[in-house]
Amino acid sequence: MQSDHKILIPRSRIDQRIEELGKQISQDYLGKDLVVLGILKGSFVFTADLVRQISLPLVVDFIGVSSYVGTTTTEDCKVTKELHLDISNKNVLIVEDIVDTGYTIEFLMNYLKKFKPSSVEVCTFLHKPTARKAHFNLKYHAFEIGNEFVIGYGLDYNENYRNLADVCILKI
Ligand code: IMP
Repeated sequence: MQSDHKILIPRSRIDQRIEELGKQISQDYLGKDLVVLGILKGSFVFTADLVRQISLPLVVDFIGVSSYVGTTTTEDCKVTKELHLDISNKNVLIVEDIVDTGYTIEFLMNYLKKFKPSSVEVCTFLHKPTARKAHFNLKYHAFEIGNEFVIGYGLDYNENYRNLADVCILKI
């Protein structure tokens, strides 16, 4: 889909990078029980592309987590759609669209502890290192970006633009 927003990361680079990530994850999780857990809604495109580049048996689930505008702590996050799969004794790979402050992921990592997974790691499509406030190990990221607001490839602005093929800088 074409748009007049400025392209930051073209689809061709996204495809190439996800292939690399998929290979890395396939090596790291060889012989392990893997649950890929996408965070709704923003990660639905990335999750769909990433799992098809992982050459291992795996299962996929989605969880809904909402963070409010102007989020300043993890307390502002809540689960809006529960897990369906049993993740106890499984290796969970959280798949996120973008780590900005990191509060959403920090909240989710604490939330998942009660289900007793054997490990929890994070794979984010985008990372804004200069905006980061919460501390956790970010094992995989596809791209680092600056502090600009981006749309496309699953990312929205007021629920729009998720279907853009490229990552674009929002032009209002
Ligand atoms: P957090 O600040 O790391 O908790 O990010 C929370 C959520 O804010 C992300 O999962 C995204 O849904 C949203 N978000 C943060 N930055 C952007 C952006 O540049 N574009 C679209 N959504 C964003």
